[in-house]
This record gives sequence, C-alpha cells and structure tokens, in this order.
Amino acid sequence: MSSVVIHRDAQAAAVAVAADIAAIIRERNRAGRAAVLGLATGSTPLPLYRELVRLHREENLSFAHVVTFNLDEYEGLPADHPQSYRHYMEQNLFSQVDIPRASTHVPDGMTGDPAAACGAFEKAIADAGGLDLQVLGIGRTGHIGFNEPPSAKDTRTRRVALDDVTRKDNSVFFGDVASVPRAALTMGVATILEARRIELLAFGSGKAGIVRRARNESPNAGCPATWLQLHPACTFHLDPASSGQA
Ligand code: PGA
Repeated sequence: MSSVVIHRDAQAAAVAVAADIAAIIRERNRAGRAAVLGLATGSTPLPLYRELVRLHREENLSFAHVVTFNLDEYEGLPADHPQSYRHYMEQNLFSQVDIPRASTHVPDGMTGDPAAACGAFEKAIADAGGLDLQVLGIGRTGHIGFNEPPSAKDTRTRRVALDDVTRKDNSVFFGDVASVPRAALTMGVATILEARRIELLAFGSGKAGIVRRARNESPNAGCPATWLQLHPACTFHLDPASSGQA
C-alpha cells in the first residue's frame, strides 16, 4: 500500500523528504555503511536538492559515504550537455556537497551498447546493496523514471522511446520539441519497486489528474505509477493542488 501526505506547499514537502534522507544517511553512517539513494530529475525535486544542500552547509550532513543512482538519462546527450540529467545532478546537488563523483551513477546516454550499459547499471545497484530510498516524480503520462505507458511490472533498466506528451512537457527546457531526444535509458518498474522505501513528489494542479489515476486505478501497465500501490513503503508527497483539494 502506498500512503499519502498532503503538505502545505512544495517547500514543506521538500523539507520533510530531505529530513527522511538525512536520517537514512546518518543512520547508515553510524552503522559504517553507505546510504544508497535513488534520485530523480525534473522541476519537482529542485526544492528537495536545495534543502539537502542547506543541510550539508548548515547542519553538517555529509555525503562522503553516500552512493547515488539516478533514474534515467536522455539518449544522445553527453554529460556536459545543459539538458542532460548528469549535468542537472552536477548543478543541483553533486557539485554542492561532498559526494565523491565515483559514488554517483547516472545511466550513460552516450553508450554504444544500451543493453550492456543497462545490465551494468542493474549490477551496480545490486553490488551497492540495493536502493535504501528512491525519490520519484510522476509524468502526466503516468511515467515513473521514463517508464512510459505501457510499462510492465517486471521491466528492468533499459532503452525506451519517450512519449509525445513527455517530449512536449520537457520541451520547455530545450526550447522546442524537436530538440528533445526521442529515447532514453531508464531504471525499470521492477528496479524501482525493489527500493526499500519510495518517496514520490508531485506538486501543482497539472499533476492532480495523474495522481488520482495512480492512486485509484488498479495497478496496470497503462499507468505505470499505479504499480507503486504494490510497494510496502511508498509515500506520495503532495501539495493541496496536486491532491485535488485546492
Ligand atoms: P517534472 O517531471 O518534475 O518536471 O514535472 C516529473 C517527471 O516527469 O517524472
């Protein structure tokens, strides 16, 4: 079962999720183990990364022993492309905290062998001991990561074609839809569901319809976020608008 918390606003949600992440990092540090975090990109988690950076600067939260895996990456964008998700992570988190770059993993959008790269990504997650916590957004198609509909429950990290709705939504970052890549590499639904804990963030009235579907439809490949209902520790962090109450 997934649970729902309706926060006052996106900032309050970011503070709450950052506190959960900080607690995991500190608990793992005390146990002498690395915390393994699954991270997301897009507009939604930006306040979360700002809060994590603040905790690092002002409250001594160290990322020195944190290992991260990002959900996805566009195909064909090099790491230094301003719209690549590696670049996003560098800008918004990695360059602002003390995480060793070798501990950060983002699928390689430039690989010549996507199947091998995706297999290696899965193996790296397993070798790290699995994801302690996965941060998610949700797309208007119902995607989690870039698992566009239809995405089955047993899907693994793989190359996917992007939905036209997603390409249009993400064209705001590229300037025009033609510049948005047509494919990506993404963790699969099964990969995501294996995280020990999942924190999904969705804000604004534009997400209200898809959040309602994700929570109320029976789990189905046509709305991949519905699979989260099967996870034992998944929380939807909403604001009044995305919860349909504003
Ligand atoms: P957004 O994207 O945060 O930019 O709305 C969410 C997603 O596509 O998962």
